[in-house]
Amino acid sequence: MHGFPDDNTSLAELAQIVLDYSKERLELDPVPLDGPRTLAQLEATAGQTVTAAGLGGHAAMDLFAEVLAPACLSVDHPRYLSFIPCAPTEAAAMFDLVVGASSIYAGSWLEGSGAVYAENQALRWISDLIGLPAEAGGVFVPGGTIGNLSALVAARTEARRTAAEGQRPFRVATTRGAHSSIQSACDVMDAELTTVEPDERGRLTGERLREVLLEGGPETYFAVVATAGTTNFGIIDDLASVAEVCRELGIWFHVDGAYGGAGLAAPSVRHLYAGIEHCDSFIVDPHKWLFAPFDCCALIYRNPAAARNAHTQRAGYLDVLTAATDWNPTDYSVGLTRRARGLPFWFSLATHGTEAYTTAVEGTLDVASFAEAEIHRREELELVGERFLSVVVFRRIGWTAADYAAWSDRILEEEFAFVVPTNHEGETLARFAIVNPQTTTADIAAILDSMV
Ligand SMILES: Cc1ncc(COP(=O)(O)O)c(C=O)c1O
Repeated sequence: MHGFPDDNTSLAELAQIVLDYSKERLELDPVPLDGPRTLAQLEATAGQTVTAAGLGGHAAMDLFAEVLAPACLSVDHPRYLSFIPCAPTEAAAMFDLVVGASSIYAGSWLEGSGAVYAENQALRWISDLIGLPAEAGGVFVPGGTIGNLSALVAARTEARRTAAEGQRPFRVATTRGAHSSIQSACDVMDAELTTVEPDERGRLTGERLREVLLEGGPETYFAVVATAGTTNFGIIDDLASVAEVCRELGIWFHVDGAYGGAGLAAPSVRHLYAGIEHCDSFIVDPHKWLFAPFDCCALIYRNPAAARNAHTQRAGYLDVLTAATDWNPTDYSVGLTRRARGLPFWFSLATHGTEAYTTAVEGTLDVASFAEAEIHRREELELVGERFLSVVVFRRIGWTAADYAAWSDRILEEEFAFVVPTNHEGETLARFAIVNPQTTTADIAAILDSMV
């Protein structure tokens, strides 16, 4: 099997087919939006794909190209504005192929020092954007959910290690706009989540946080989670005042920048993140707004030793790794085996340079600003909430939830755009998440035109 001896397609031919497909996909302009198929449709068209004798590489590739791939939405389509899209640079996407072909184990320095070195330089760029000290460091994990969980596990371990006799901190404080993965992490950890009322701009503030922490007893909390760019609205909490309260009460300050952390690279919005330099841990998903393919979350700690203490797995067969003082990425998160998932991001950064990232993020902010202005200009539309970053939420005056759903279904059916409605305090609304530098102002105008 390793070499396809029983296949008519030689390894070299199959390699060419796979590379040609990948190259053509990357060169497509525009990419097709494509769309979901029903199970019955896929059963009818793809049929049974796993068979005792195998289909052969050529046939399996044809099946993917002609049946399976068109049944998957292109998350890099410029009019895919739902959830948080993913628009990798061509360099990053190409390098994913290289990572796959290279059989690198990136959990330890011993096995993957070259990859770990490069990943750490990419993490350093992010640490510098935050303003973290030279000792800061971390690891690329699959996504924000695992990043938040890993940071909270490190925070709890550290809080319990340093707690007064008889104390076992078990609570996390955050605000309503925090991502669902914070609740999920607390559920996994059997921790209690306290929700602090946001201010009138939707932000977690130090003042309200202090009241809640003092009321519940600061010694019962092991972490505060602030969000730098909430998923639904892009709101950035008042990080400076939250940091101050965390410092005053000795509580770990985690910042979830899974979506919005990328804005640190944009001078026009950098002031919104003031205070972030005090965080104890931070995440940003390069697979969201930093143009890396799935699955890539950068998790960074101010004091990596605390995370290592929480996450290092110990077993006889691992002694050779854990006894060394090397930087082993696996020691900084939940999980052991890891692919070098930060390398596609690193390759693109190394190829294009960080200034290109600043330009690209600023470009998406300009398009979001255009969307906001268009919404103000059109009398049937109304902006909801304040726009902090590149998420724009708005109301189509007079529409019911069913109207939003019908519109969203229709534009997807036409393979024109993918924009699902969101919900805020019981009201259905439209929402754009603009993280793709190839989304143009003309795309935005055309989608708004479709809402008349
Ligand atoms: C603010 C925030 N945190 C965490 C997550 C979870 O990230 P992931 O989907 O990569 O697990 C998201 C996802 O959208 C997010 O927007």
